[in-house]
Amino acid sequence: MRRPIVAGNWKMHGTRADNARLVEELLAGLPDGAAAECLVCPPFVYLQEVGRLVRDTPIQLAAQDVCAEAQGAFTGEVSAAMLKDVGCGFVIVGHSERRWIYHESDQLVARKFAAAQAKSLVPILCVGEQLAEREAGRTEEVVGRQLDVVLELCGVAALRAAVIAYEPVWAIGTGRSATPEQAQVVHAFIRERIGMRDAKVADATRVLYGGSVKAGNAAELFARPDVDGGLIGGASLNAEEFLAILAACGSR
Ligand code: PGA
Repeated sequence: MRRPIVAGNWKMHGTRADNARLVEELLAGLPDGAAAECLVCPPFVYLQEVGRLVRDTPIQLAAQDVCAEAQGAFTGEVSAAMLKDVGCGFVIVGHSERRWIYHESDQLVARKFAAAQAKSLVPILCVGEQLAEREAGRTEEVVGRQLDVVLELCGVAALRAAVIAYEPVWAIGTGRSATPEQAQVVHAFIRERIGMRDAKVADATRVLYGGSVKAGNAAELFARPDVDGGLIGGASLNAEEFLAILAACGSR
């Protein structure tokens, strides 16, 4: 059984006061025995403080990015060891905003994945095609390549301590989510691709869907057999919405 994950990617939003309010509302509404693991991903500068707010609660701390290098003269970067030091358990790597706005290559993303695991952080590897790629029928080629670069650098066993997020670029922040069927097709493809190397790892790896997930569409997306929860952007900034998305994973 794969335990679902619902992760809130706050991106570059919020203030200290907003964060405190959001965490307070989340903690107040979080049910006992939620089926899903609950993660929040605040901006770097707020990690330590949010980490303090969620310590000893069911909410886990994740970062939005990490440097591929371990330490040294890399102005502006934050290392995996630093993220671990302030209490992160997870880190997003290869978010499409990093790939497309900041030109991160598949190779750099794979190195970030390895850097995170070297410090026992669980990478949440984002993969996904752009609209033109989907329209050209290239979704599987693109997603397969993004995945393979990581598998070749780190080996399939590395996925035992990782999470994948399928995030079609055209669905992120657009209000236009993939349909549950579109998501399921790509999730199944991802699992098959991993399964070509190791069937057990493929079966155990959690594959989240991200891209305009809301309270209104979460349940039907999460009901698909290969969708193991979600990576939530905009809707994670509203406690009521985020809690409803979490509830869409059911209870246990
Ligand atoms: P969105 O973002 O939910 O606002 O579409 C998802 C993401 O970028 O992780």
